[in-house]
Amino acid sequence: MTQDNSSQTSPAGQSSGGDLFNTAAGWVLGAAALGLGLSILADKYFQGSSAPRPAELGYVIEVAETTSDGPAEMSFAEALTLVTAEQGERVWAKCQSCHSINAGGANGVGPNLHGIMGANVAAKPGFAYSAALQGLGGQWDWERMNNWLKNPRGYVDGTKMAFAGLSKIEDRAAVALYMNANGSNIALPAFTPAAEVAEEETAGAVDEAAGEVAADEAGSE
Ligand code: HEC
Repeated sequence: MTQDNSSQTSPAGQSSGGDLFNTAAGWVLGAAALGLGLSILADKYFQGSSAPRPAELGYVIEVAETTSDGPAEMSFAEALTLVTAEQGERVWAKCQSCHSINAGGANGVGPNLHGIMGANVAAKPGFAYSAALQGLGGQWDWERMNNWLKNPRGYVDGTKMAFAGLSKIEDRAAVALYMNANGSNIALPAFTPAAEVAEEETAGAVDEAAGEVAADEAGSE
């Protein structure tokens, strides 16, 4: 009985150990098969000839277009504070083949530009302007001059000024200052640097306090 039991237990133990091994092996095999199956499926799904090939491969990452003004996109009013009329004289070299700037200067391919800042658009006597520029109307203020010089044909479709434009905002600002210094002298647009805005807020509080002191002193006199 005892012997029988032990003799039965032993093979049974071995057999159950074998089952455990087989079960484990089965799981491993099963997992491997599943993995293989999935990878085949994945291959079919992503590379199968039946799948239409997208026109553009990979992800299309939208990148915001940056202009030549740079990512900061400073205002023309700010650019005007960073350059000088003297710098503008150098930029003017690109204009002088077509324009004179001296008072009473002759019209060339383009009109004489003495005193052009603040002047009426397309109003120089004796120059045959395009209908397009005549249609613009108004005066040459800073913002308009900026837009015009950046891309003349883009700003005034049909203009006969055959000039590609000045891509750098500093160049446009400098040459506008140069023109302003030649017979115009109109006021610069208001510009307050961001750092000064914060300073002014503090200064405002100081001014108020100073004002109170002044008022007190005035009262005591
Ligand atoms: C290839 C010749 C040419 C060059 C270079 C040129 N211009 Fe002109 N410009 C013209 C012509 C032509 C007109 C008249 C446009 C029209 O009637 O459509 C004009 C018109 C203008 C006007 C408007 C004048 C008005 O009376 O309203 C301004 C301002 C001006 N140009 C500035 C400049 C500046 C600044 C540059 C240099 C950065 C420059 N131009 C370069 C030919 C030129």
